[in-house]
Amino acid sequence: MKGHYRAAAIVAPTLALALTLVAACGGKTGDSAETAPTPLLTAATIGEQSILTASEFLSQAPYAAANLQDGQNQARICTACHSMAKGGANMIGPNLYGFFGKQVGTVAGFGYSKAIENADFVWTPRVLDAWLVQPGRFLPGNRMSFAGVGDAGDRADLIAFLLTATDDSNDDNN
Ligand code: HEC
Repeated sequence: MKGHYRAAAIVAPTLALALTLVAACGGKTGDSAETAPTPLLTAATIGEQSILTASEFLSQAPYAAANLQDGQNQARICTACHSMAKGGANMIGPNLYGFFGKQVGTVAGFGYSKAIENADFVWTPRVLDAWLVQPGRFLPGNRMSFAGVGDAGDRADLIAFLLTATDDSNDDNN
């Protein structure tokens, strides 16, 4: 019987520690549920895609309620490497005009990384959101040197602005 009590004396504190850890982790998940997509979407886990027009995407949450001015301010970091204008040149990154609804890696005359060339998905707000969290995690081996936008609300504002700024749906060839 003595042996049994000794074992219980070790188990009890271990159990208490385990419960504390579970409680700590549980609390953290609850706090960040809004900002942290779990598990994070990657190029390999996209699955079926819902492809709408830019204005249809813009009418949906969270983009319908987004702050376009904030999105425009944030987009300045993108325009250091990307033109968004119709007919704009490829810079360090490819021109982004009309990229929503298009297959990844298809801008003429831009030399993409192997990672982008081998990728197979269509750019939608959902995919762009995951890319912008951390491009290197979404698609390992890509060459876009960008740390990412950590806050989900900031990404929603930025994506809403990009939906308007790169929208090619009024062009004659569409
Ligand atoms: C430091 C330069 C740089 C910055 C800043 C940057 N990009 Fe890029 N971007 C690139 C490069 C380079 C590529 C091509 C990557 C490759 O080939 O692996 C790229 C690729 C992309 C693509 C894929 C385009 C396609 O044709 O499939 C998208 C979308 C994109 N960037 C969006 C953005 C957005 C939105 C921002 C701002 C938040 C941004 N980028 C900021 C350099 C940059």
